[in-house]
Amino acid sequence: MANYPDSAITTDLNKTDSTIQRDTGMQLASPGVAKKSQAVSGIIFSTFLALHLLNTLFAVSGPDAYDGVQQLFRLIYQFMPIEVIILAALILHILTGLFRIFTEPKRQLSGRARLHRYTGFFLMLVIGGHITAVRGASWFFDVYPGFAGLAFSVQALPLYFYPYYFLLGLTGFYHGLNGLGIALARLGHPFRLTNHKLKYSTGAAGLSLVAVLLGLGGWLFDIADPAQSEFGKLALQLLQNL
Ligand code: HEM
Repeated sequence: MANYPDSAITTDLNKTDSTIQRDTGMQLASPGVAKKSQAVSGIIFSTFLALHLLNTLFAVSGPDAYDGVQQLFRLIYQFMPIEVIILAALILHILTGLFRIFTEPKRQLSGRARLHRYTGFFLMLVIGGHITAVRGASWFFDVYPGFAGLAFSVQALPLYFYPYYFLLGLTGFYHGLNGLGIALARLGHPFRLTNHKLKYSTGAAGLSLVAVLLGLGGWLFDIADPAQSEFGKLALQLLQNL
């Protein structure tokens, strides 16, 4: 392996990757590959996310509508090979995002790009817990949370779950929609929502999420006691065993 003096390896943040490569003779992992993998994995995951957020919207119409749509969609996204592809795309998307942040030269970000990055950080922080909580019950105990599981969580810990579901849904919507535009452009199919349209659709998503949460909390219609649901009983049992 060739030896390079430290000074030649030090990367100047203002230099482009090709300049660094020319100066040092080092083969940097191509940012082009990272960007494309991030775009492709983002598009794959966003198809699941679109179905998932659409399903969430049905909570406004009550438990039967929400659970009915979820059972239908599960036939698609929980078909084992598809679920593996969705989760692999999510992991690849997170890893390529982190790789790019640590390896690419720092640059000034627009407000929209900054919001994209911050929503990504938030989702990165909470997504592991979300999947474990909602999918862990069905993987390990064959109990699906569904409407009653979500209703149970907002009834048990309202100060945590109302803002948490609101932020999860809203950041997911913004990051997914804005990210889809970035990803398509990167793959040569420019599609970019104007700031206005992005702002209004995110506002509409926020209002819809408020209605979803009112539905889950039993404020729009009567709901059965969620503590008596299979998910509620399992959660209480697990909490007692802690
Ligand atoms: C208000 C917002 C949200 C609510 C109430 C919610 C609720 C749920 C529920 C109930 C499940 C279980 C689905 C099932 O058993 O079929 C689930 C699964 C999942 N959610 Fe969410 N979710 C929300 C937002 C998000 C967002 C924004 C993301 C990603 C950015 C996300 C990613 C996932 C993933 C990856 C799974 C596992 C899918 C699988 O492997 O089957 N969720 N969510």
